[in-house]
Amino acid sequence: MKQLIEMQKLAFFIVALLAALAVSRCNAAATVRMQLTHADAGRGLAVRELMQRMALRSKARTARQFSSSASAPVSPGGYADGLPTLSEYLVHLAIGTPPQPVRLTLDTGSDLIWTQCAPCPACFDQDLPYFDPSTSSSTFPLPSCDSTLCQALPVTSCGKRKFWPNKTCVYSYSYGDNSVTTGLLEVEKFTFGAGASVPGVAFGCGLFNSGVFKSNETGIAGFGRGALSLPSQLKVGNFSHCFTAVNGSKPSTVLLSLPANLYKNGRGAIQTTPLVKNPDNPTFYYLSLKGITVGSTRLPVPESEFGLRNGTGGTIIDSGTAITSLPPRIYRLVRHAFAAQVKLPVAPGNTTDPYLCFFAPPLGKPQRPYVPKLVLHFEGATMNLPRENYVFEVEDEGNSFVCLAINEGGERTTIGNFQQQNMHVLYDLKNNKLSFVPAQCHKL
Ligand SMILES: *[C@@H]1O[C@H](CO)[C@@H](O)[C@H](O)[C@H]1NC(C)=O
Ligand SMILES: *[C@@H]1O[C@H](CO)[C@@H](O)[C@H](O)[C@H]1NC(C)=O
Ligand SMILES: *[C@@H]1O[C@H](CO)[C@@H](O)[C@H](O)[C@H]1NC(C)=O
Ligand SMILES: *[C@@H]1O[C@H](CO)[C@@H](O)[C@H](O)[C@H]1NC(C)=O
Ligand SMILES: *[C@@H]1O[C@H](CO)[C@@H](O)[C@H](O)[C@H]1NC(C)=O
Ligand SMILES: *[C@@H]1O[C@H](CO)[C@@H](O)[C@H](O)[C@H]1NC(C)=O
Repeated sequence: MKQLIEMQKLAFFIVALLAALAVSRCNAAATVRMQLTHADAGRGLAVRELMQRMALRSKARTARQFSSSASAPVSPGGYADGLPTLSEYLVHLAIGTPPQPVRLTLDTGSDLIWTQCAPCPACFDQDLPYFDPSTSSSTFPLPSCDSTLCQALPVTSCGKRKFWPNKTCVYSYSYGDNSVTTGLLEVEKFTFGAGASVPGVAFGCGLFNSGVFKSNETGIAGFGRGALSLPSQLKVGNFSHCFTAVNGSKPSTVLLSLPANLYKNGRGAIQTTPLVKNPDNPTFYYLSLKGITVGSTRLPVPESEFGLRNGTGGTIIDSGTAITSLPPRIYRLVRHAFAAQVKLPVAPGNTTDPYLCFFAPPLGKPQRPYVPKLVLHFEGATMNLPRENYVFEVEDEGNSFVCLAINEGGERTTIGNFQQQNMHVLYDLKNNKLSFVPAQCHKL
């Protein structure tokens, strides 16, 4: 008997030691690298389809606020139907022992990490097998639903009905586009890139998931500022992402705990701006956008119109939204400034909706039509967008169009991932700063 207890103690000690080692490995210098692919990569979509899909998803996402409604009881059922969902760059990692691969949307606009879990009574189709906790030796339910991490969820309850195991943390988490995941908050070992692994990461084992997830994702990796996000749980001081072109197939990269000297030597192009906090929204990364220039025109918008007003409005940077959206009044000014400076006829909205498009010379011509530059002015930083980060060209029914990849949104300005292509974006969580620098992301 005694011997057994000693054995258990020893086993516990070894597990604790391994856990400490693994975590310290991650906290110390070691940079964790993960691969990303675009959600629509390999589907052979035409530019027009690709842009329409992205617009649909971005619009749906901004249409509603990220719901963080107070405690409503969790009831499986009553899901959103038929709405498209966010889904853009997918991070490749593995969960469990032995590791099972998952592909999660990299989302700096939410906190929870979750994947679809077997037996998955109500799940969307995915290419990979569902994550199966019953075949993993390292899955544990959260010790109790009173735990801090369970309490960090906007909607939770303590499992007590027949369906849920006794006293487990049952969560329901919804997104701006109305997609929802409901399941159990569990603790697992996560394996990143080339073998670095961290035990004890809390994640949602999603049993009831809805929304239109039509590509290769199996869930979402929250990279927001809240306690449940991956960067928060791994306690990293910083992370970064670098997105390759959406229309290409080159893999992108996420780095956790970047080397300090990454851009020390002679990289004048790096721009840095403060990350602003909004007490009313602990998840989003707010930036202080101050103005927009279109070609020769600085828009006549007072700085306060981009800022937070009583917790609403403001400007966020969000990897889970594709297309940047602006409040209606600002969007109209941008549209007007483009229409005034592009020397081409405006295409009727209904062929090219929701984008502002112009009739353009056929795509094969070497000389591409003039479009004015687009510059975002942040506190202390200027984002001079390269043409391919705000303009796309399509051919449709014999016509060629050049279009502006910006949408009209709600009161909050959202900087989406289309505008962040080929840009290394660094989130310095320790010092509340965001930096960005042009980069060839596939070479990072
Ligand atoms: C997504 O799945 C499709 C079909 O299974 C596959 O052809 C494609 O390569 C996958 N794309 C990525 C990025 O994994
Ligand atoms: C559920 O757990 C609580 C506390 O752990 C215990 O008191 C209770 O008896 C359990 N209920 C059932 C049905 O197992
Ligand atoms: C992607 O789009 C850019 C800019 O519109 C274009 O220059 C490039 O050739 C496209 N790449 C592919 C693979 O279609
Ligand atoms: C990122 O954080 C690590 C420690 O967490 C630190 O050593 C490193 O200097 C930071 N890198 C940058 C670029 O801030
Ligand atoms: C901010 O909110 C408070 C309380 O809700 C209200 O009294 C105040 O008028 C609001 N201020 C602005 C500028 O909207
Ligand atoms: C929209 O397109 C339809 C047919 O393609 C056309 O009949 C209609 O006039 C268009 N409406 C506008 C407002 O351009």
